[in-house]
Amino acid sequence: MSDTTAVINLDLTGPTISRHLYGHFAEHLGRCIYGGFWVGEDSPIPNEGGIRLDVVEALRALNIPNLRWPGGCFADEYHWKDGIGPREQRPRMVNTHWGNVEENNHFGTHEFMALCELLGAEPYISGNVGSGTVQEMSEWVEYLTRDGDSPMVRLRKANGREEPWRVKFWGIGNETWGCGGNMRAEYSADLARQYATYCRDHGENKLYRIASGASDADYKWTETLMQQISCFGCEATPKNFFQGLSVHYYTLAGPWEAKGSATDFDTDDYYRTMAAARKIDRILTGHSTVMDVYDPGRTVGLVLDEWGTWWDVEPGTNPGFLFQQNTLRDALVASVHFDIFHKHAARLHMANIAQTVNVLQAMILTDGDSLVLTPTYHVFEMNKGHQDASSLTVHLRGEDAEQEHLSASASVKDGTVLISLSNLDAEEPARVTLDLRGGGLGATTARILTADRLQDHNAPGAPETVAPRAFEDLKTTDRGLELTLPPHSFVTVRAPLA
Ligand code: AHR
Repeated sequence: MSDTTAVINLDLTGPTISRHLYGHFAEHLGRCIYGGFWVGEDSPIPNEGGIRLDVVEALRALNIPNLRWPGGCFADEYHWKDGIGPREQRPRMVNTHWGNVEENNHFGTHEFMALCELLGAEPYISGNVGSGTVQEMSEWVEYLTRDGDSPMVRLRKANGREEPWRVKFWGIGNETWGCGGNMRAEYSADLARQYATYCRDHGENKLYRIASGASDADYKWTETLMQQISCFGCEATPKNFFQGLSVHYYTLAGPWEAKGSATDFDTDDYYRTMAAARKIDRILTGHSTVMDVYDPGRTVGLVLDEWGTWWDVEPGTNPGFLFQQNTLRDALVASVHFDIFHKHAARLHMANIAQTVNVLQAMILTDGDSLVLTPTYHVFEMNKGHQDASSLTVHLRGEDAEQEHLSASASVKDGTVLISLSNLDAEEPARVTLDLRGGGLGATTARILTADRLQDHNAPGAPETVAPRAFEDLKTTDRGLELTLPPHSFVTVRAPLA
């Protein structure tokens, strides 16, 4: 068994961990919207105005801070005016990216805003740059956020919504290097400037515009965008054209053409997955380093608005629907990502797991009227105390200098400390001693998420195969609070400052 000391200085707080690092993503893709969030008002599944209430209830327990919509790739073929007005009269279209299926536009702007209100989440709308127009995006902002009287305000009111909504987060296109238009970085950067100009702040609604950014380690793309951030000369006080830029990174255990099964994998696949998950640290460091050169004051945020595991679809399902199972391995991918996100809290403003329901690394899987919470869901729930907390640095010390089998992070909020620990070793337990300095802790409670096998997952007949339980294997020694983490486990420790 390995023996590690985790040194945490309770009185040395770092940057705030934005709650938006726990953001979500819902695309018109497979069964994420239709069947996942939306069942329609006539459904026998309990709903409010067509929105599935069991899904809302489960997500409310996560305090989800924001929801990105309508894509993804879908965003760049979505025309928002097709999704307003009486549902039966809305035009239909083909979702060419995802399964070539017909989209009836029954879930549109008003339905999305109603969903965000039910969830208590901020909307993050991704606008169409790939096949839309500047006018179309500009009018969408006006429709949603303008008060008083104007053409789009009159249209909104005619559709039953008197008051403007607040919509701060606004994506200027998605993956413009690929499905969003196959552009060069230079062209995409120019379009970002142009579209951002016409996405106006109406009244008190101040936009946070997010330019379509890089994939993986494409630091050149980030540099090209960062060279454009400021509108020098157009105002007495230069302001940034956009307040954030995105990056996407997915965890795969192999090549794109052979991603492997979500449930049928061996220990080597598991370790390859963990190595790929930890790579997000280097990727965020790389983009942040480039951004520091052009924006040393850190006024522009990095937004990882797509992350998570991507496996082969479940056998027998539509390959365009990206439906995959979710095991303890996925949960550990999530816990590792969060530790790394907390470390990058100064530059990383937002992160959105792909995707919330029934697609890729989901929180929730539905099948008809059944609903299952995935192991990944439980990591979001166990970690929610980190939202808007002050980060605390964790120094790991042990025989293995890299401490590759361990991942950890900590924070403090309102006098309560939350420490997250993952033992990534597939076979061996790990002893961890918390050496807390600069203060002490009161009564400690701890929870664990683990299972017999890494491949274990939840299903309608066995919904709690991987679910959090109380963790008792901790004791106070003269070196600190000692915990023995079972193999492949995630543990959270929570305690008030004494
Ligand atoms: O999340 C699935 C897809 O992955 C998104 O639509 C796209 O942006 C990315 O390539």
